[in-house]
Amino acid sequence: MKQQRHWEERTHQWLLKTEFRNASEAEISELKDILRFHEHRYYVLNEPLISDTEYDRLYKMLEAAERNDPTIITPDSPTQRVGSGLTASFHSVSHLVPMLSLENSYNAEDLLEWDRKARELSGRETIEYCVEPKFDGASISLIFEGDRFTRGATRGDGVQGDDITANLRRIRSLPLSAGFAGLGIRQIEIRGEVLMTKAHFKQYNDLLAEQNLPPLANPRNAAAGTLRLKDPAEVGRRNLEAFLYHVSYTLTDPGQDLPPALQTHSGSLDLLWDLGFRSPKKEKRVFQGIRAVIDHCLDFEQHRDDLPYEIDGIVIKVNEIALQEKLGMTTHHPRWAIAFKFKARQAISLLRNVEFQVGRTGSVTPVAKIDPVPIGGVTVSSISLHNQDFIREKNIRLGDRVLVERAGDVIPYIVRSLTEQRTGAETDIRFPTSCPSCGHDLIKPVDEAVWRCPNISCHAQVVERIIHFTSKDAMDIRGLGEANIRKFHELGWLPDIPSIYTLPYAEMQQLEGMGSRSVAKLQEAIERSKYQPLHRLINALGIRYVGETTAKGIARRVSHLLELAAFTREDLQQIEDVGVKVADSLFSFFQDPAQQDTLRRLEALGVNLSSGRQEAVSGSLSGKSFLFTGTLSKMKRSEAETLVESMGGKLLSGVSSKLDYLVVGEDAGSKLEKARKIGTIHIMDEDAFLILAGKS
Ligand code: IVH
Repeated sequence: MKQQRHWEERTHQWLLKTEFRNASEAEISELKDILRFHEHRYYVLNEPLISDTEYDRLYKMLEAAERNDPTIITPDSPTQRVGSGLTASFHSVSHLVPMLSLENSYNAEDLLEWDRKARELSGRETIEYCVEPKFDGASISLIFEGDRFTRGATRGDGVQGDDITANLRRIRSLPLSAGFAGLGIRQIEIRGEVLMTKAHFKQYNDLLAEQNLPPLANPRNAAAGTLRLKDPAEVGRRNLEAFLYHVSYTLTDPGQDLPPALQTHSGSLDLLWDLGFRSPKKEKRVFQGIRAVIDHCLDFEQHRDDLPYEIDGIVIKVNEIALQEKLGMTTHHPRWAIAFKFKARQAISLLRNVEFQVGRTGSVTPVAKIDPVPIGGVTVSSISLHNQDFIREKNIRLGDRVLVERAGDVIPYIVRSLTEQRTGAETDIRFPTSCPSCGHDLIKPVDEAVWRCPNISCHAQVVERIIHFTSKDAMDIRGLGEANIRKFHELGWLPDIPSIYTLPYAEMQQLEGMGSRSVAKLQEAIERSKYQPLHRLINALGIRYVGETTAKGIARRVSHLLELAAFTREDLQQIEDVGVKVADSLFSFFQDPAQQDTLRRLEALGVNLSSGRQEAVSGSLSGKSFLFTGTLSKMKRSEAETLVESMGGKLLSGVSSKLDYLVVGEDAGSKLEKARKIGTIHIMDEDAFLILAGKS
């Protein structure tokens, strides 16, 4: 890969272009390379150099040129991740080399024994090992012919898997072409794992919850399920990532030796990385002898939750490929590798009771009360059973022994009932017919899986609605936590959402545990929330099927929230992300006089209902240009850039006299010096930027 500076300069030149017609072949080829370079920076290195908007501009230029002359489209063009629509079915394909499994080890003794055998077989006194994470996802096998990615498959039975090429092309960290031919490699088969990060998994489960669908148990199931979708476009939306960790087959040009890098496992990870793949180059470690490996494994297990994705162990591999070949394999696993499995985050417990909780939309959710069990350092005693269908499908009964899983920071989940251990004393879980909070008869809409309490004044619903309103992703009112909300509701201070803004602070100071300082802080947080951007208020209102994303789409369409009261169902469906179901829900919400009254009261109390107000209050960035350099500590660079753009600011890709603000993180380099020399640029740190953006 060429120098970063070269690509930065070329990007800058391309972004200056206002017109782009009759492009030459060389220009098109350069534009593709520039886009590939930025995809790699963004998806593989997590270090974007340009803003999303700038990337989109370049991408659109390529799209336009390809539309103008379709003969220039190549299968590895950045535009070709999109394309083919639905996949009718997956064909079975044979792997070039069978995909074996790994032998497992669970403790130091297992590893010592494995190392002893490997040393005995190889005749070596000490073996060099390369260790890397054992990614907890879905395994894949890729084939590149020349430089082009031509086929990708699931593991299947190890000999044959399903052809999922169309889906894999949607994974942005997988290059569609890589420089193998220049290394004399004609064909190569590479193994790896497809993952969903914990953050994207949470986002995906939130989306399912918005649609009243039960969540997925863990990111592994989410990744594996996504790879089997018949809709590649949807695969693209789910933000999968791929780590490549093993070269299983290479065919070289006649008389051509393999690149020296491929003589060790760690070298092959470096080479894959250099060719643009996301390999565990940075995560891997090389050790002499098994003792150091054991120390590393035990230490790494303590830090597994620090990673943004799930791992279920460490894989230890003999580093020298010649030695790997000497050790060979059994029919099941290679003798040159072993998995050190972390302690399972599963446990078995007894399902004692089921309680029914009323949510903010009136949905009644069964919650399993199990005998408390520690799982991965957390004691679990309550687990959502989602709805009646979930209980039926999983065949769960009171008195069952259940297998519980808690993957990382993921909410605990009942994997299955151990029906084989039933004694006959287990009983069916009976659903209530009336609301456990207000006693109103429950209803079950025909097209839904959940029972609901239709009484919108039901105390449980009111409290849950207020909890949601104040939550971090909604109005973000710190200090007004769940316990306080319940207490204030019982005291009659919080009968509804608008009453948040009329709380009796003087009386509050008399409550035990509420000093004047904490009351003042709470008051400040409540006052600040009045200026939250409109999309946060829309999300906070807890309208069914309307989450963060839909709320943003709505906020972009109106200048004042009450305009929506004049929208027909058809008008609502014109909004981004709003289909028939969401439009129906929005329509009934904004037609409801009680909801309109709530909104008017909120506005009278000073809460922002318009989409432009936030800028006026927190200082608009409109017309100002920004550039970030160095590592930010409170937010990702991409988040900071989105913030600038959302507040009307512009992002520049280099330091010039046109730049207004340079935001400097840690280890800032030449950009800082250059900005100082120019002298007219405001140089600020991250905290100052957050204040300017009204976020501090
Ligand atoms: S090496 C012959 N390395 O774990 C090479 N596998 O439980 C075998 N896995 O089937 C694979 N992370 O799907 C290897 N860093 C890693 C891995 C890894 C996850 C998966 C792989 C394998 C399974 C065995």
